[in-house]
Amino acid sequence: MNRRAFLASSVALALAPQASFSQSVKMLRAAPARQPLAGAGHPDTAVWAYNGAVPGPELRFRQGERLRIAVENALGVDSTVHWHGIRLPNAMDGVPHLTQPPIAANGGRFLYEFDLPDAGTYWYHPHLGSPEQVGRGLYGALIVEEREPPAVDRDVVWVLSDWRLDRGARSVEDFRSFMDASHAGRIGNTVTVNGAVRDTFAVRAGERIRLRLINASNARIYGLAFEGHSPLVIALDGHPTPPHAAERVVLGPGMRADLILDCIGSPGSAHRVVDGFYRQRAYELLKLQYGSEAPVRASFAPAPRLPGNPLSRPQLARAERHRIVFGGGMMGGPMGGGMMSGMSGEDMQHGLFWTVNARPVPEHDHAPLLKLAIGKSYALELVNDTAWHHPIHLHGHVFTIVSRNGRPVEREQWGDTVLLDPRTRAEIAFVADNPGDWMLHCHVLEHQTSGMMAVVRVG
Ligand code: C2O
Ligand code: CU
Repeated sequence: MNRRAFLASSVALALAPQASFSQSVKMLRAAPARQPLAGAGHPDTAVWAYNGAVPGPELRFRQGERLRIAVENALGVDSTVHWHGIRLPNAMDGVPHLTQPPIAANGGRFLYEFDLPDAGTYWYHPHLGSPEQVGRGLYGALIVEEREPPAVDRDVVWVLSDWRLDRGARSVEDFRSFMDASHAGRIGNTVTVNGAVRDTFAVRAGERIRLRLINASNARIYGLAFEGHSPLVIALDGHPTPPHAAERVVLGPGMRADLILDCIGSPGSAHRVVDGFYRQRAYELLKLQYGSEAPVRASFAPAPRLPGNPLSRPQLARAERHRIVFGGGMMGGPMGGGMMSGMSGEDMQHGLFWTVNARPVPEHDHAPLLKLAIGKSYALELVNDTAWHHPIHLHGHVFTIVSRNGRPVEREQWGDTVLLDPRTRAEIAFVADNPGDWMLHCHVLEHQTSGMMAVVRVG
């Protein structure tokens, strides 16, 4: 079914139409706002937001289009916007001091303009003072639709984030806690889906939903299970992967997954979506609540395979290899003995708790860790020599995950962020085809700003 035929049929079925394109959004304005995050019976929460709401506007484009957005910074602090996962010219990457001057507080502006080569699920967020700016609510979805999107009844985005709220639903203002920075990062006590605590998500029996999950949390990792359903993962970090069932969809900070969620429940039923990543602290994210209408369809076609993006494939046999070791943090994990591994007392006094190849680097602008030749293939072995999880993110490129702990991965997977479990390693490979200085950092934002950050120079 082509897109027009599909739209006509979905209207006939009286389902919600596809989310409308928001190419008309030409401006993002970062400013303080208030939002009813915690739900009924709780006061609004003071947040920082793009265009007045958390998450910011859902930006939708078609693959190959040009994004052109003026950002205005009405915050009292400098900021930038980073377009997470997009392959774009270095000057548009939104990294302060490295790729652009910060957008000044109280009215500074910056025009971002670049082409969108790849379809997929991406997002945008500041890259300055990230623990506080992202933690207060500055982020939004950036969706690049395929030229021929697969037929689904609804295309839905869930931006997942968490908050540390007090009893009055106020944000606890501890964005620079050394305790968080040296441990798992700032994990909140309240989880929101698209900016609100939700009891239910309404579905209709027999509908097929493309569910795009974005982890916009500073530090929380999600492991979602859809009770009574078996969603298929069709894309990770925006890029197609062979459709496969996942018992739990695990997303580290910064990561995305596209699911095909076939609503196989019966009219009137309800099914829990449970986040069980932290085993002792599993909780219900929300319930899929079925309406009473008769099923839209009785059986489902096989899940669509998405067309691949125009990525260069690294030549593994000839790739130049490097080993990058991520170190630091408390030894022995959450229960550990309270000893810092490998950090000097002086580093820790300066709030540095993490290292990349033994160097703690908190700023964006510093000597490159690696210099890569343009057009050449590279294989990086990323070693997590700590007792903590680290989602490692590379800017400006999309890599393929070759192996984990020396074992080849089960199926092809591309991405911009790879989650390293404690004391594990992964090998990624990519073609260094985008010139410039690019960040390589942990996307636990408190880790990033306390040392786990490096620059890779291409060209
Ligand atoms: Cu999503 Cu360097 O960031
Ligand atoms: Cu980390």
